[in-house]
Amino acid sequence: MTYEEAKKKLALAGQEHLLKYYDELDAGQQENLLGQIEKLDLSLLQLIGDGKIETAKGKLEPLGAVTIEEIAEKKDIYEEKGLEAVRAGKVGAVLLAGGQGTRLGLDKPKGMLNVGMTKELYLFEQIVANLMQVVKKADAWVPLFIMTSEKNNADTTGFFEEHDYFGYNKDYIYFFVQEMAPSVSYEGKIYMEGKDKLATSPNGNGGWFSSMARAGLLEKGKELGVEWLNVFSVDNVLQKIADPVFVGATIVSGCICGAKVVAKADPNEKVGVLCMEDGKPSIVEYYEMTDEIIHSRDEQGKLLYNYGVILNYLFEVNTLVKIMNENMPVHVVEKKIPYIDENAQLVKPTEPNGYKFETLILDMIHMVDNCLSFEVEREKEFAPIKNRTGVDSLDSARELMQRNGILL
Ligand code: UTP
Repeated sequence: MTYEEAKKKLALAGQEHLLKYYDELDAGQQENLLGQIEKLDLSLLQLIGDGKIETAKGKLEPLGAVTIEEIAEKKDIYEEKGLEAVRAGKVGAVLLAGGQGTRLGLDKPKGMLNVGMTKELYLFEQIVANLMQVVKKADAWVPLFIMTSEKNNADTTGFFEEHDYFGYNKDYIYFFVQEMAPSVSYEGKIYMEGKDKLATSPNGNGGWFSSMARAGLLEKGKELGVEWLNVFSVDNVLQKIADPVFVGATIVSGCICGAKVVAKADPNEKVGVLCMEDGKPSIVEYYEMTDEIIHSRDEQGKLLYNYGVILNYLFEVNTLVKIMNENMPVHVVEKKIPYIDENAQLVKPTEPNGYKFETLILDMIHMVDNCLSFEVEREKEFAPIKNRTGVDSLDSARELMQRNGILL
């Protein structure tokens, strides 16, 4: 793209400020900046109005879950079926590690967080340890696909290498990098991170499968015989990965997707709830529900919209291939975005100062025809680290880890 072309493209969207420092840059930097402008998807900017662009929800209906008690009754059958699939190489794991962890405020990948107290124990290490339990039980390696972003790929891959992949077989680890989207001010102006660099952020966890495809990993999966992908987040230290009971239950149910859920701690808990929307499974955020829906109960007094998701899903690969090119809703999310000010000084805000654009994995659930809602014990499988203090923090996760016998 030439300077003139870039100028024209930006003028149409009121973003000419991105070329402010062009004349000060050397040839390489100029080329770099023009390359970024060429790739820029300016249509995203139309999503910013009053900051509330979420589409209205359809007709909601409750969706029950296979409960902990029901699962316990059939555990052996499910587990055997799941182990069989793992042994046959049909199950892959996908670690979503492209996020920026802005709430925690780390300047390195979240997975590099040391959760240990008397020894070093990194999040990545604990995740690998959780997966190793299945590897040992099945006596088979589970392919582990790890999504990073441009911002943290080098640190992440370096960290794994430095720690010898935490004992995992590195031939079964595949890194891939997700796409980026521009970050903008509340007025819709794209921020700059440097004189030759637009401020960009990872484009959410919804594009994981298309990013995997772009990285050529679908062929790899096919070669390995992977039929199911268990996708999970980097920050839930207690989660089970490629859990044979979950895999087996989903296969036995005939569903093409499964979601691990926990019973809500109270009706107003701020979690996404798995339910039905216009006849298809869907995850609805707490703020998208009316009070009436939130509090509705069955004859036994149990909440009808009772099951919150914990970002641990199992998808059939064939289904993912079918839905891969469908458009996903783009969410406009308020974030703290580092930027250069009018004096070209880098500012790292302590409060949100604009928006980034994200697609979310939870929207994929509404793109599939059915989904097994699979209840797990919160105290045993859900200890996310999202915040610096209080709820879902390092302290709360440590406490839960210790209660589960993990030596810190
Ligand atoms: P979160 O929604 O908690 O986002 O991600 P985050 O970036 O980790 O943290 P905050 O919101 O900025 O504080 C849930 C999971 O999705 C991954 C994260 O790494 C985490 O495992 N994720 C998120 C991506 O892989 N890419 C993204 O663009 C966003």
